[in-house]
Formats: sequence, C-alpha cells, structure tokens
Amino acid sequence: MNRLDGKVALISGAARGIGAETAKLMIEAGAKVAIGDVLDERGRETVRSLGDGALYHHLDVTREEDWNAAVAATVSRFGGVDILVNNAGMFLGKGIEEATLDEWHRLAAINLTGVFLGTKLTLPALRERAQQSAHGSAIVNLASVAGLVGSQLDPLYSMTKGGVTLFTKSAALEFARKGYRIRVNSIHPGVIQTDMGEQTFVARARNQGTNDTAAARNMALGSHPIGRLGVPNDIAKGIVFLASDDAGFMTGAGLVVDGGLTAQ
Ligand code: NAI
Repeated sequence: MNRLDGKVALISGAARGIGAETAKLMIEAGAKVAIGDVLDERGRETVRSLGDGALYHHLDVTREEDWNAAVAATVSRFGGVDILVNNAGMFLGKGIEEATLDEWHRLAAINLTGVFLGTKLTLPALRERAQQSAHGSAIVNLASVAGLVGSQLDPLYSMTKGGVTLFTKSAALEFARKGYRIRVNSIHPGVIQTDMGEQTFVARARNQGTNDTAAARNMALGSHPIGRLGVPNDIAKGIVFLASDDAGFMTGAGLVVDGGLTAQ
C-alpha cells in the first residue's frame, strides 16, 4: 500500500509541521524528497533527520526565481519530479474589520500565488516524469476545512483555501484535457496540532476576549466529533495516499481528514 518507490517529491513549507511529517512518511515509503521553506535552519535540521534521501533548498513560494531554483536542484540531485505537494501556507487569524490590505496581500501571495507558481513552474518536470510511470505524476494541494465551509476565525484564510479547493479541480481538468497524465487533488485537514494549529487557538481566544488558549483549544476539540484534534501524521498519511498510484483513479477530488468536523 502507498509505496512510493522510485518517486521524487518536492514539498513546499516542509521545514516543520504537516510538510515535515509528509517528507518523513514519503521517505519511509521509498521516495526521495526535496524540502523547500523560508526557515532555512529548521529546514536543514529536518533534512539532517531524514538522511540521504532528502535535500533542503531555500524556497519562498511567492517568488518565481525560488521555484525555478528549487525545481532545478531537485532534478539535478534526484533526476526529476513526480510529486508536488503545495503545502506552504499561513493563517492570519483576524476578522474582516481588523485585517489590513497589506496583510491580505501577504496571505494571498503565500496561500494562492504560491500554489499557482508551484503548479506552473514544476509542471514541465512533472510532465516529463509522467510519461515514464504507470499512473503519471501527482500534485497534492493543502486546502483546509476552511476551504469547504466558512471560518468564523479567519474569513480571509477561508477565501484563500476556497480558492485552492477550486483551483485543484480546475487544474485537474486542464491537465486531463491536455493529456498530461498529472493527477491533482486537495486535502482538507481539521485542526491539526502544529504551530499553525496553535495560532488558531490564539485567534479563537482573542475572539472570546481572553488570553485563555487552553479554553480555546477545548472549544476547538468540541467541534471535532471524533473526540481529538488531529496530528501531522493523520494528514501526512492522506497526502502519501493521494500522491501514490493507489489513488491512480483520483483527480480533481478533495480528501477530507477532519475528525468529522464538516460532517455536522
Ligand atoms: P506550519 O505553520 O507548522 O507550517 C507551515 C510551513 O510553511 C512553515 O514551515 C513555514 O515556514 C512555511 N512557509 C510560510 N510561508 C512560506 C513561504 N512564503 N514560502 C515557503 N514556505 C513558507 O503549518 P501546518 O499546520 O504544518 O500547515 C501546513 C499546511 O496545512 C498549510 O497550507 C495550512 O494552511 C494547512 N492546514 C493546516 C491546518 C492546521 O490546523 N494546522 C488545518 C488546515 C489546513
């Protein structure tokens, strides 16, 4: 199940959190993995813990030149790219009245422009490898439950993740129509215990007019019927599945991994 033997993955924002856990599981599944992030020291540390099958390259997803350099470094070291995971993202945690135009531009640049550029600039490498494999190449985009239903905490984040949800479907259709053999799917996590997960507790507490992040965490827990919050491993397993040939008949789909949050 889910073997990635012989595959090469490029994962954005993988110095920590969901991206770093995905890199670990992909290596365990037999892949080589390139990690791109703006947190260079943390990214190098993550790669050291992963061993020879991983490389780190500085990548600000909002910059074309960074994507071109990261893709070139991956191809040069590992021979190609079969899998792109557009994982880098940021959470703002402010309401419409509090958020500034500059904050919106930053959020949109990372969560939306980053996904567009990653897809566009990795495409030639993905197309090339797609010709050589049974089920082609794969792109997995990190959307969110906030890309399926509205978010009380962060409407602007929700706007970006809603964009990622439909960009995923549109890219899947465009690449299928063009015969590129590249599957494109999204994953929709509930609240996951990472640095970003912590930021959601802070925003939730602020909305309640307190600093009590423990109470905010309990409120978040209450919205997950399964009775716990998510951990990076829950999401990484889903990403590995979508990236693997086990998901060979899936494209333009959204995999919801949210402990039942959006079932309500
Ligand atoms: P995190 O904050 O732990 O990790 C995000 C990573 O993206 C960090 O390493 C950060 O340095 C990197 N990053 C930020 N800006 C960047 C840029 N311009 N270029 C390259 N890298 C950049 O967050 P987490 O939780 O691991 O999130 C990963 C993805 O999952 C994000 O897209 C997030 O929106 C999504 N997600 C997370 C949820 C959660 O509760 N943690 C829930 C739903 C979706």
